[in-house]
Amino acid sequence: VVAVGSDMGDKLAVGDRVCGAALGMNKYNKEAGAFATHVLTEGDVFLRLPDSMSTVQGASLPAGLCTMGLALRKLGLPTPEQPADKPFKVLVYGGSTASGTLVMQLLRLSVHTLKFPSSLRATDVPDRSNLIPIATCSPRNFDLVTDYGAEIAFDYRTPTCAEDIVSVSSLLSHA
Ligand SMILES: NC(=O)c1ccc[n+]([C@@H]2O[C@H](COP(=O)([O-])OP(=O)(O)OC[C@H]3O[C@@H](n4cnc5c(N)ncnc54)[C@H](OP(=O)(O)O)[C@@H]3O)[C@@H](O)[C@H]2O)c1
Repeated sequence: VVAVGSDMGDKLAVGDRVCGAALGMNKYNKEAGAFATHVLTEGDVFLRLPDSMSTVQGASLPAGLCTMGLALRKLGLPTPEQPADKPFKVLVYGGSTASGTLVMQLLRLSVHTLKFPSSLRATDVPDRSNLIPIATCSPRNFDLVTDYGAEIAFDYRTPTCAEDIVSVSSLLSHA
């Protein structure tokens, strides 16, 4: 960050390393664009990178986060700020993918054991969204997906995969 607007308060400061989302270009708004040495953008769509995360790791995060956030919003799922009244399950088909591991962390947002940047504290999140991810992946990734929040994992190559999911997932509401 080389300059900060007056509205940002102490959210960001000059010298911070950040990652975030900016439109590549917008011919109707010449000030918006990302293909430049310096980018002018909305501060609240940027995250301060923790020391533990490299700039390259940070650069890989926003596209996935935005995609997964949009998917959750489009599905109309409860949020940590407005959690569901009771727990229900969400099937993440492809739990071991980059996208799957991200979305499971979003679903489990306030569970402190998960792999969020150290700068995000459990107390920053008011409540759980009450959404429990279950996942499909290859057996070699069963441990990985449970690490990222899946309650249970299913091998998508087995012929009985769909029945197996249904048999243990009476509360399944979204996929
Ligand atoms: N990454 C992003 O930021 C991002 C953003 C927007 C959209 N997308 C889209 O999301 C999709 C996934 O991308 P990704 O980057 O998240 O994937 P990825 O990390 O490259 O995922 C690879 C894994 O997908 C699983 N897989 C491969 N073929 C499969 C199949 N036929 N059925 C079920 N699982 C299969 C395998 O998991 P196992 O080894 O466990 O079998 C494989 O290791 C793509 O269509 C991509 O364009 C990604």
